Amino acid sequence: MQYEDAVKEVYEIVKPKYKLFTAGPVACFPEVLEIMKVQMFSHRAKEYKIIHRDTLDRLRKFLEVEDGEIIIFPSSGTGFMEAAIRNAVSLNGKVLVTIIGAFGKRFADVVESNGREAIKLEFEPGNPVDPNALDEALQKNKDVEAVTITYNETSTGVLNPLPELAKVVKEHDKLLFVDAVSAMGGADIKFSKWGIDVVFGSSQKAFGVPPGLAVAAISERVFEIAEKMPNRGWYFDLPLYRKFNKEKDGTPSTPPMPQLFGLNVVLRIIERMGGKEEWLKMYQKRAEMIREGVKEIGLNLLAKPGYESPTITAVLTPEGIKGEEIYNAMRERGFELAKGYGKGIKEKTFRIGHMGYMTFEVIQEMLDNLKEVIDELKRKKGL
Ligand SMILES: Cc1ncc(COP(=O)(O)O)c(C=O)c1O
Repeated sequence: MQYEDAVKEVYEIVKPKYKLFTAGPVACFPEVLEIMKVQMFSHRAKEYKIIHRDTLDRLRKFLEVEDGEIIIFPSSGTGFMEAAIRNAVSLNGKVLVTIIGAFGKRFADVVESNGREAIKLEFEPGNPVDPNALDEALQKNKDVEAVTITYNETSTGVLNPLPELAKVVKEHDKLLFVDAVSAMGGADIKFSKWGIDVVFGSSQKAFGVPPGLAVAAISERVFEIAEKMPNRGWYFDLPLYRKFNKEKDGTPSTPPMPQLFGLNVVLRIIERMGGKEEWLKMYQKRAEMIREGVKEIGLNLLAKPGYESPTITAVLTPEGIKGEEIYNAMRERGFELAKGYGKGIKEKTFRIGHMGYMTFEVIQEMLDNLKEVIDELKRKKGL
């Protein structure tokens, strides 16, 4: 009781002020926040083991994993970029990194900073990876050990045609690492059917859970390679994680328990909504509503038609208006969108995230305000 003021002081700083359309962290489901309040206990206790096992089983179903293992890390999604490279690519080995925006570039940085070589296959912002170009690059670079694909490029609002690209990678018999940080929970993933080797996501995106938990599915092939990989590190040692899953229903180091409880609640909500298909339809419906609303205002999208993301929309600003001006004006009205992100598009775009907890009424309210903001900015600038 006597420390109530300490809570008040922090709350004053962090209290919710905006309706969130961010790129992540996103607004969390109220039910998630509710369970995250529980008092902590040991992560080696029986109660933790029950939730750990149950979450893994639910994720296995959600990601359609037949052979392979679900692994959770006490990190954000980027931890799995590092893990994939250190566990499954030889030191000085080559990785073909496909880049359609800022997060493809990050994967290349992770490859290089871990002493491996990144062969970059880059496309203009707004475009997906072209399967023919990928095929050509793999024909030219027969010695690459793995290919990386950003399933959903958060900086450009583009969803890559993953099943098609995966097919090309498998024809060349390469490992396939998929960054699904802003896709997992918002776009379909069929891990075994598509022949993926590593696919990872973060709690703070389409699952609508606070940050701190990373989730991945890992193939048997990766474990076989990893077991023989020298100096793969300890904190992100995949075979060690598998051993702890099997023997202890837990993780080698302490997991972010509240986030895991929250994710378990979301996976149960998905089941009660009617399963993955119904849940993903909700994401599609949000995305369509936002795309149509934005087009009605007279704005264009950055994403090439047919490749628009179900979780985030990058909008091109009208001539003479900067993305940041729209972002700031919307913030003044109580809506937090996301600024443009990435070389060459930062000023020319702003983004509307549609992940996590949001209602269709709030989406409409946001679109109505966006229309007014654009009209006002145009009027002010005499456009
Ligand atoms: C596509 C993509 N990859 C990777 C990341 C990095 O994820 P994290 O911050 O969870 O490490 C992000 C974060 O926004 C992302 O959108």
